[in-house]
Amino acid sequence: MPTARLGCTLPGVVIDRRLQFIVGKGGVGKSTLTAALALSSAGQGRRTLMIELAAPGGVARLFDVTAAAGNEAVEVRPGLSLMWIEGESALAEYLSLVVPIKRLLRSVFSTRLYRVFVAAAPGLKELMAIGKIWYESQKIRADGSPQWERIFVDAGASGHSLQYLQMPSAAAATFQSGLVHRESLRVEALLKDAETTCVHVVATPEEMPLTEAAGIVAQLRDPLALALGDLIVNRCRPVAPAGVADALGKLAGIQTEPGDEPVKAALLGAAETALGWQRIQEQGLTRIRAETGIEPLRVPLLVREEFGLAEVEEMARVFDAGRQDSAARKKS
Ligand SMILES: Nc1ncnc2c1ncn2[C@@H]1O[C@H](COP(=O)(O)OP(=O)(O)OP(=O)(O)O)[C@@H](O)[C@H]1O
Ligand SMILES: [Mg+2]
Repeated sequence: MPTARLGCTLPGVVIDRRLQFIVGKGGVGKSTLTAALALSSAGQGRRTLMIELAAPGGVARLFDVTAAAGNEAVEVRPGLSLMWIEGESALAEYLSLVVPIKRLLRSVFSTRLYRVFVAAAPGLKELMAIGKIWYESQKIRADGSPQWERIFVDAGASGHSLQYLQMPSAAAATFQSGLVHRESLRVEALLKDAETTCVHVVATPEEMPLTEAAGIVAQLRDPLALALGDLIVNRCRPVAPAGVADALGKLAGIQTEPGDEPVKAALLGAAETALGWQRIQEQGLTRIRAETGIEPLRVPLLVREEFGLAEVEEMARVFDAGRQDSAARKKS
């Protein structure tokens, strides 16, 4: 089984929803996990869309997509597409839907007032970007089935991603009637529909990312009131088998030939360093479990010279196995 081969398991349930956001501190592996979850989903035959907010980033790099496709989906594999959504062009696209007269729109877009408004209106770009996600989630094919059966959104670093997620509620409350109110309510309803939407929180097993993840979980619960997906702790080291500390004690006590002393010292040093990392990891995981009440999903650290699509595919297989485990647990 791939999870065992990688020395890690996914002990919790792998939460699966139609619209999944991936948030967490900078550099913890959001783009990697977005791609891995999406590959796993597409591998199950589901029409899957990955979305990056603001600009092409880690996911686009992994799939080597550079074309300036604007807000259009680019198919990167059969059944797997990527799109990046930038607020200003999402607004332009939205306006072109509600104001069909192209000439009028062109003159609006070129006014200084419009530019100043777009640049300065607080949260407008975030609102439009999240509105575009809503739009994608509602697209229907000719046979009546959804265009996208799964959407994974790499929502970028925590602070900004929470801004995206809170904008529909904030806008619905600010504009108490009219178009913005109605549109915001629709998007808010999608985000708050726990059957359809969830937010995965990603961390690595070190103090700062775990603290930030616990803070995000708290905010998602209150005030955002959004459904939590999995708490994913990425780059986890395998846990040493029980009795290793004792074995190391014995190894330290073994008499060696004088020439073998450096070898013994190197072995002990390496083992103690690994155990030190493991202690930090396990303490961190215990703390976040206590703070959030959630059993984290461990995703293994893949020690590779280069980390690319092949490694992400390996990670996707970890999720495949995790899903099978979850399904088996549900049945039993
Ligand atoms: N499980 C893993 N094992 C080893 N390396 C990993 C793992 N997950 C991610 N990485 C590496 O960690 C780095 C950061 O990953 P990634 O770009 O996905 O993070 P991010 O959260 O999207 O970062 P940013 O906030 O900058 O967008 C990358 O170099 C990636 O290859
Ligand atoms: Mg990224």
